[in-house]
This record gives sequence, C-alpha cells and structure tokens, in this order.
Amino acid sequence: METIRQAVASPRADFLPLEGTDHIEFFVGNAKQAAHFYHSVLGFQPLAYAGPETGRRDLVSYVLRQQKITIVLTTALRSSHPVADFVHRHGDSVHTLAIRVPDAASAWRETTARGAVSFREPETLQDEFGTCVISGIRTFGDAVHLFVERKDYHGTFMPGFRPWQTRFEAPETGLLHVDHCVGNVGWGRMDHWVHFYQEVMGFRNILTFDDSDISTEYSALMSKVMSNGNGYVKFPINEPAEGRRKSQVEEYLEFHDGEGVQHIAMATSDIVATVMELKRRGLEFLQVPTSYYVDLLDRVGPIDEDVTPLKELGILVDRDDEGYLLQLFSKPVEDRPTLFFEIIQRKGAKSFGKGNFKALFEAIEREQELRGNL
Ligand code: FE2
Repeated sequence: METIRQAVASPRADFLPLEGTDHIEFFVGNAKQAAHFYHSVLGFQPLAYAGPETGRRDLVSYVLRQQKITIVLTTALRSSHPVADFVHRHGDSVHTLAIRVPDAASAWRETTARGAVSFREPETLQDEFGTCVISGIRTFGDAVHLFVERKDYHGTFMPGFRPWQTRFEAPETGLLHVDHCVGNVGWGRMDHWVHFYQEVMGFRNILTFDDSDISTEYSALMSKVMSNGNGYVKFPINEPAEGRRKSQVEEYLEFHDGEGVQHIAMATSDIVATVMELKRRGLEFLQVPTSYYVDLLDRVGPIDEDVTPLKELGILVDRDDEGYLLQLFSKPVEDRPTLFFEIIQRKGAKSFGKGNFKALFEAIEREQELRGNL
C-alpha cells in the first residue's frame, strides 16, 4: 500500500476552532532539576512558578518559554498525589497537550457531546491580571487535552502562578514553535484514536504511512497524521506493526507502561545554528551513517544549505512536492527509552520526512540493540 495523502476539506463547520498549542505540561520526578535542563540545554527561558510559596501545597510547577513554545514541568510534593502515581508508572512524560481556543466552555461542550471523556469541566480562573477559562478532555494513555481561553488574561502565565526568574542565564537556541506532537498507541489502537480525533475534535487524517513505508529489516510501525482544519495542531499517531524483532513503538509502550507522547517536533529557522548550539550544550542526537550524505543531493535535489555542516551535525533532508525539510532527532531525554525531541526546519515541505524513515529507524534500532531491547 502506498502513502495516502488526503487533502479533502471537511464539509462540516468547524465546531472546535483552535488557535495553536498553548503549552505542554510534563509530569516529572524532580521539576527543579528538569527546569534547569530545559533552560540550560534547550534554551527555554524561566517564566513562572507555582508551589507552596504561592499557596499550592501539593504540587510545584515551573513554566519556561522559548518564542511560541511554553512548557510546564510539574512534580508532586507527596507520594500520595496522583502526579506521583503518573511518574511512578510512566517516568517523566507528557501529561497535558494544551490547546489555545477562543471559547474553552464551548470546546468542552462540543467534544464531550461527541463522546470525549471529561478531564476537567470548564472553570474560570481569576487574579488581578484577568481571567483565564480552562477545560479538558482525556486522550490516549493517561494524557489529556486542556482547552485554554486566555483572551482576557494579561498576567505572566495563568492565575495561581507568579513570575519566576533565575540568576543563571542561558540564551535561547532558536526554537520557535511546536510543529507537531506524536503519540504512540497500542497494538490495533491507531484507528480508534484516528476516529477519536476525527469525530470528537473534527480533525482530518492528512497522511497515512503503513509498514511498507516504515519498515526496516527488523521492525515496522504504522502512522496516521491528524490535523485540525487550519493546520495549527497536528498529532501523528503511531502503532506498532509486525516485524522480525521488537519495534521502537513496542519498546516505548513497554518502558512507558502504556500509550503516550513519543516526540515533540520543534521548528527552527536555522537548523544548523540550532543543532550546533544544542550539541554544544550537551543534547544528544541520533546519528545516521555518513553514507547517508554520499548521494544526498541526487536524492533530494538542490538545497540552499552546504552539505558539509549537515553531514558534520547529522542533519537529515527530505523533499516532497511542495519543498524540502531538514530534521534531526534527539536521543530519549530520560533514562527510559521514551520521549525524545525532533528539531525541524521546513522550506516549503509540509510532510514529515518519509524519505528519512529507513535511515532514521535503523539508527534507532542500533540504540535499541545497545539497550538489549531489539
Ligand atoms: Fe516527527
């Protein structure tokens, strides 16, 4: 079966208008140390804090921001808190994919009426800087979507948070916005979640990859890319496929103990400068063999960049009929082989680097083998 690209406009009115990713919240074992990593290595800037000093007795959260990407790192102060249970089960992992909406109450009503399981009923949060309305629904695994309406809020982040600064300074690394967030779901569950995003959230399936696109000698996976109407929010969904050995999605499901966010792709307008800086600060990336670059320009055609720095940094290139893209994947950013980051620069291409899947997955399998999980 070939890759299927579907570009048919939805005939329905958009019952769930989305304005983009609002923030991504990770539940972690030690938010103080995680915040230092996201600041010093990835270049996110300290923004806001909530914890005992702000009247929150059970949780601590640090908010960091780089351009349009806002992350929240939350840890439980006591073992009996559900956030501690989440981290015990999944390790440090994404809990909340928050989406900015013009009307959070409507977003909750429309999605729950279509079958979404409520995570949080609409609630208005207020402080001296205005009001913020939030609501939420559950998605795959233990992850949730929070709907955030903040047009009447002018504070740092949200009511309950205070501004947070550090004396330590680490500049940004050129990351601009979230390009897409990928979920790994269990065997045979991809179509369930595709249906969820179609029916409950009004998304469209814009690309499909099956195991003839994404397989190596050893393992395979299948993927469908779901996008909302304006394309601001994209969630590719992976499920494992039968292969000779354990696939990367199976390894994730085993160590994450269930479904969850596999990677977050963040866009840059200068991938060479961004990756050079991230490497200098200690972020580790997957390495493809240098043979990848031998016939690169024959495969992808002319590109603006010199091949030499791409080869030195291990940056991958792929072309579709609208342009090309450059991308690179980090190794997992925790000890469990679960969440990783993708750095992506789009030069017209709207796809996801299908031409790189084979080289990339072989690089992932070399790492899996080193872990004894292939
Ligand atoms: Fe990706």
